[in-house]
Formats: sequence, structure tokens, C-alpha cells
Amino acid sequence: MKVLVTGATGYIGSHTVVELLDNNYEVVGLDNFSNSKREVVDKIKEITHKDFKFYECDMLNKEALENIFKENEIDAVIDFAAFKAVGESVSKPVEYYINNVSSILTLLSVMKEFNVKKIVFSSSATVYGKPKSVPITEDAEVGGTTNPYGTSKLMVERILKDLYVSDETMDICILRYFNPIGAHSSGLIGEEPNGIPANLMPYIVKVASGKLECLNVFGNDYNTKDGTGVRDYIHVVDLAVGHVKALEKLNKEKQGLFIYNLGTGKGYSVLEIINTFEKVNNVKVNYKIAPRRPGDIDECYSDPSKALKELGFKCEKTLEDMVRDSWNYENK
Ligand code: UD1
Repeated sequence: MKVLVTGATGYIGSHTVVELLDNNYEVVGLDNFSNSKREVVDKIKEITHKDFKFYECDMLNKEALENIFKENEIDAVIDFAAFKAVGESVSKPVEYYINNVSSILTLLSVMKEFNVKKIVFSSSATVYGKPKSVPITEDAEVGGTTNPYGTSKLMVERILKDLYVSDETMDICILRYFNPIGAHSSGLIGEEPNGIPANLMPYIVKVASGKLECLNVFGNDYNTKDGTGVRDYIHVVDLAVGHVKALEKLNKEKQGLFIYNLGTGKGYSVLEIINTFEKVNNVKVNYKIAPRRPGDIDECYSDPSKALKELGFKCEKTLEDMVRDSWNYENK
């Protein structure tokens, strides 16, 4: 089976390409390197000892995209090509909507032209907004997103649902990720955010390595076990495996539109993450309690039972694996 992976050199894209190649899928990768590096292509080949076709291409360039479909008989698409910095999305909404919404519209129209019906879409738990209760199931209400990044994910989910209504021969799988952290155990690929990281784990790593002075823990008066925010952190390799399972499902089942949470179902607080990171890696993380970050919520973790039941997907990695692999990547 030949799979087109857009955003193939990004954080989650690159780990998914590794899993696909390891599972003997034929991969065609695409990226414009707007937030990733060309060398990731070789790193993937080094990890897997396998080759794959790669195109430097912007998804807004319809002609270039058509060429890829002409040159390769694509069976399915996994779409990772999107910007993902929440703060940046607030100051650059137009850029975010163009990159995250217009680009998939171009992709979907080219898929239609070439009669490609299977797509796995990279969505986020951010579509749940402020959840009414935890753990969050897939039928929880969506909406109430507080930034253009989140809204762009919600919009694309809506577009895919409308598309399915118009064409029930489509096979669509929407995956809502919780908080991906960690890196491939080789230390060759991992997360490299531009500038000062906004997310917790990349920030911890920079503080531990002395590149940043001190982590601000945003609030210790939340309604949680120790007052700090609780999230469902998932190892990026587990997340990548989830995509392979989603493809298997689209291959096996009759047509449909499916939505799955990808998370562990466990919630860890900011202090638990810091403590585990320090203990496992034997390194100090300077931190201080700071005011709450606007828009943050107390707790967000998944009910992962639907993915287990329907995809046979279960996270294998522990929190210890996640913090060790994040640190290993930084050191390599
Ligand atoms: C954020 C995004 C979400 C996105 C996800 C990707 C927001 C509101 N949400 O989720 O849309 O899909 O990243 O992984 O930005 N924290 C600190 N200090 C820091 C950074 C974070 O204490 O320097 C705390 C936060 O308050 C939160 C937890 O760590 O309790 C996790 O934060 P983060 O990694 O930014 O993820 P989310 O906010 O859950």
C-alpha cells in the first residue's frame, strides 16, 4: 500500500514515517521544511534502513501536488502538514488558516481528481475546548476553541464531516492527539520547536540543559491533585503506531468516518512531570511557581477505550520512557 505523508519531516510526521516503513508500507513523503529540517529524511532512512520517495513541496501548490499523485499511485494520505504553535496562531491567524485549512482543501481536491478516498487527519484534543468532564470521550462536545490553531483543527474536522456526507465512499479517520512528548529511542529524530518553546516538555529539556534558566510552572491553584495542570502525555512513538492502526482500519472496514482519541488515559501534573524527569535523567530542573497562563484548563485527559476497542491501539510506553527519550534527543 502506498501512503502519502504530508508534513513528513515534522515531529509527529517523521515518527509515523518510521512506523509505516517498519510495517512495510510504501511511503511517499512531502514537506516544505517550514518547520522542519531536510536532514530528517536521511535520519528516517538511517533508523529504518529503508528508502522512500520524498518531495519538497508546498501543499498550497496544487500543480506540484498533482504531479506527486501523477507520479505515484497513492492509496491513502496521512495529513500532518500544519502549523501548531498556539501563541503564534493568535498573532498570525491568516497564516494559520491558510496553512492549516486552505492547504488541506487543495489536498482534498487533488485526492478527488485522482480518486483517492482514504485519509487520516491529524487533529487535536484542543477541539474539545474546556471539557465539561474528564476523561474525555470522542462524543464529548467540541467547540469553544480559544485560538486560531485550535479553531483551524475544528474547521478541518467539520470540512471532513461535510465531505463524508457528500461522498460516503470516502474513508476518513480523524485522530485527536492529547499531549505528544518523547522522541525516537535512537535519538535521531525528535521535537525541535522554533525559538523559545511554549509547551512543557521542550521547555523542561531546555532548562535541564542550561539553555534556559528556569521553568515557570503556570499556576499551582488548579483543582487537581497538587494544584498544577494535569494533562495526558503520550509518547510520540505510540502516537505514530496509532496512525498505522488507523490505516489498517481504513483498509479493513467498509467506508466510514471514524474519530479516535489518541492518549494514554492517564493524567500527570506539571510537578509529576518535572519530578519524573529529574529522577529518571538524574538532572535538575529549576522551576518556580508563576501565575496561571490564560486559556489553560485544570485537567485534560482521554478516555482511550474506543481506540483500544476499534483499532486495537494501546500505548506501550511509560512516562519514564517519555522523559528519558525527550532528554536523550536533546543530548544527541
Ligand atoms: C497545548 C495547546 C494545545 C496543543 C498542545 C500540543 C494551549 C492552550 N493548548 O496544550 O492546543 O494541542 O499544546 O501539545 O496552549 N506549562 C507550564 N509551564 C510551561 C509550559 C506549560 O507550567 O512553560 C503547563 C501548562 O500550564 C499545562 C501543562 O504544562 O498545565 C501542559 O502545557 P503544554 O505543553 O503547553 O500543553 P497544553 O496546554 O495542554
